[in-house]
Formats: sequence, structure tokens, C-alpha cells
Amino acid sequence: MTSDVWSERARAYVDSDAHRDGPDLDQLVEWSQDAETALDVATGGGHVARRLREAGLRVVTCDPAPGMRPDVICRAESLPFAADAFDVVACRTAAHHFADIEQAICEMARVSRDRVVLVDTLFMGDDGEEAERLRDPSHVRTYTEAEWRSLIQEAGLSIDEVRFFESTFDFSAWLARTGCEGDEASYVEELLDDRVFDGRLTLDKIAIRASV
Ligand SMILES: C[S@@+](CC[C@H](N)C(=O)[O-])C[C@H]1O[C@@H](n2cnc3c(N)ncnc32)[C@H](O)[C@@H]1O
Repeated sequence: MTSDVWSERARAYVDSDAHRDGPDLDQLVEWSQDAETALDVATGGGHVARRLREAGLRVVTCDPAPGMRPDVICRAESLPFAADAFDVVACRTAAHHFADIEQAICEMARVSRDRVVLVDTLFMGDDGEEAERLRDPSHVRTYTEAEWRSLIQEAGLSIDEVRFFESTFDFSAWLARTGCEGDEASYVEELLDDRVFDGRLTLDKIAIRASV
């Protein structure tokens, strides 16, 4: 999917109840607090950058979608920064869109001087993957905890800590952000039946702190 689709969605991701706060975001901030500089990869609506700046860090944002107004327009798989350029490299709720996840993690490890902090949705079974792809064709895939551990280690990073969170938000707004409607939306709801209660969807998240 081209970055133009993401640019069209930019406002929705700034306002999104699923992105603008949450305990996973608090965790990334806590893991970054003693650092001075950070790179926010796939910044989207800029929530990680906003919170890290509030915590006193100097932050550079990057994203391939110009409409997200990143400081630097680039894909995670090819970061135009020098080795060891940032104390912290952060990436939240975006890795499941990356075409080449191995390359993206290696790039994050290369440009980090000290640590990489990541959050993403955890793999929740084949129905979950089908629902995510139907709702948003830019979805590539999510990974299990074991897959995450192996991706991080293969990039030469050491895992310091792994935490798990639940993210609960408005189901209709989640569908609307990607323009999923009609029969397709009904089928997505059927696939996610055990995760939607009172109009709210709950997804499982993994947060990882790893050292270079
Ligand atoms: C769900 S949004 C990110 C959310 C944001 N990090 C936050 O915490 O609110 C996903 C972002 O991934 C970006 N993206 C998609 N493919 C990418 C890639 N290959 N490399 C980097 N970013 C990518 C999109 O442009 C979009 O802004």
C-alpha cells in the first residue's frame, strides 16, 4: 500500500482513541526516560514523539507518509541515519505494516546507540489476521511472543524486558479509520466476535525493551 493512503488517514490517527494514550505508551516513555535523544519510527499521529518530548527528550520522527508530517520521510526498512545516531529508537503499533520486518529491526538496531523499545499487536490467531487484513489491506502480519524474541535476537539485540497489555477502544471508530464498512465490516465483527464487547474491541499488545 502506498504512503498516500496513510496520508489520507492522518487526521484520524492523530485523534484515534486507540493510539493517543494507553499503558503501552506510558511504558515506552518509562523505558526512555533517562535518555536524551530518540527516533520515533512510523510516527503516525505522533503520539510517541509527543510523550517523549514532554519527558524532555529531543525526538526525530520518521514515517513514509508525508501526510503524517514526520521530520523525515522514510520506511523503517531503510533509515537514513548514521549508526548509533539516537539513544533510543522507538516504534509503536506499526511493525505489523512493515513489508520486511527483519530488515526493519536490523535498521532500528543499527541507528540506536543504547536501546530499542517496541510495541505491537500480538498475533491472535488466523481469524484475527484475516480480520486485520480485511479491515486494512496494508496489514502485513502480527507476530507471536516467540517470533518477536527471535526477530530481536537475530538483529543482534538483547532483550531486557517484555510486558503485555490489553488495548480496548471503540470498534466502530477502528473500522471507520480504514474505511471498512458494509458486509466487510460485518464479517470482520464475526471474526473478532470473542473480542468485541459493548461496542469495544480488545487487542493484545506486546512491549519489548532491548539493548544494543
Ligand atoms: C498505526 S500508525 C502508527 C501509530 C503510531 N506509531 C502511534 O503510536 O500512534 C502506522 C504507521 O506506519 C507507517 N508505515 C507503514 N509502512 C511503513 C514502513 N514500511 N516503514 C515505516 N512506517 C510505515 C504508516 O505510514 C503509519 O503512519
